[in-house]
Amino acid sequence: MSTARWPHLRVFSPPWLDDCGMTVIADDEHADLMRASTRLELWLQFIGRHQVKTMAELGVLRGRFAERVLKGCPDISTYYLIDPWKHLDDWKKPANKDDETFENVYNEAMTRTQPWESKRVILRGRTTEVVHAIPDGSLDLAYVDADHTLRGISIDLIRIWPKVRAGGFIGGDDFCPSIWHHPDRFEPTLVYPFAVYFAEAVDAPIVALPHNQYLIQKVEEGFTFSDTTGRYPDPTLQGAHAQKAGHRWGRLPQQLLRQMKRPATP
Ligand SMILES: C[S@@+](CC[C@H](N)C(=O)[O-])C[C@H]1O[C@@H](n2cnc3c(N)ncnc32)[C@H](O)[C@@H]1O
Repeated sequence: MSTARWPHLRVFSPPWLDDCGMTVIADDEHADLMRASTRLELWLQFIGRHQVKTMAELGVLRGRFAERVLKGCPDISTYYLIDPWKHLDDWKKPANKDDETFENVYNEAMTRTQPWESKRVILRGRTTEVVHAIPDGSLDLAYVDADHTLRGISIDLIRIWPKVRAGGFIGGDDFCPSIWHHPDRFEPTLVYPFAVYFAEAVDAPIVALPHNQYLIQKVEEGFTFSDTTGRYPDPTLQGAHAQKAGHRWGRLPQQLLRQMKRPATP
């Protein structure tokens, strides 16, 4: 179903299991993904089912995700790890630490992924600095979880897209309904709605998944935004911004309610 305000948006409400008709993933697979209890479980399932062999992770940090994916998906033959593992003066996000901390984080990532040394390709640098090392059209999946600011997500999606093979996928984290994922002193998180606009620009379908994940497939089926979570009713920047006010003020009645329920102190 589409809405008049945003004709490409298809919002499915439960029972969404009944023939969503999505092009990106089949309905039965979608049902399984919706049942995944964590983002990791979701991607392990997806990677296994789509027989992903070559993938890249943009933004690796301690390598926890990479470790679990490499352990759980033995069919992967090449796993690119992209991360500068250093302090970035122009990145206003809480994960930006000092160089010494990042050196330890880098060492941890190396230790965690050591058992798959023959499969891992370490690309230490920003996406723009190292992405050329990946051959065009070679990735089955790129998992984008690096700089989630407007600058970061736009650079990452645009630079990694040519590296994905026809029929391959981009997935990613922090597809948060509100751009105010972190306190105001940090840059807002623009994965959503930017990823939706990116999908429209390249004329590809995008699906919102549970646990703030999304999936874009590189196919010539045309752009659609399928929201089966019901959490993204208005993919305008104004809509994503408005979620903040809704979030803040939405808490007030709950707090008041709790206060009212609290027994009066003598
Ligand atoms: C959210 S963490 C990644 C978490 C990891 N994917 C996981 O699931 O365990 C974000 C990482 O992105 C990296 N990063 C920041 N800016 C980047 C850029 N321009 N290019 C590549 N990586 C970047 C940071 O160094 C940080 O380690």
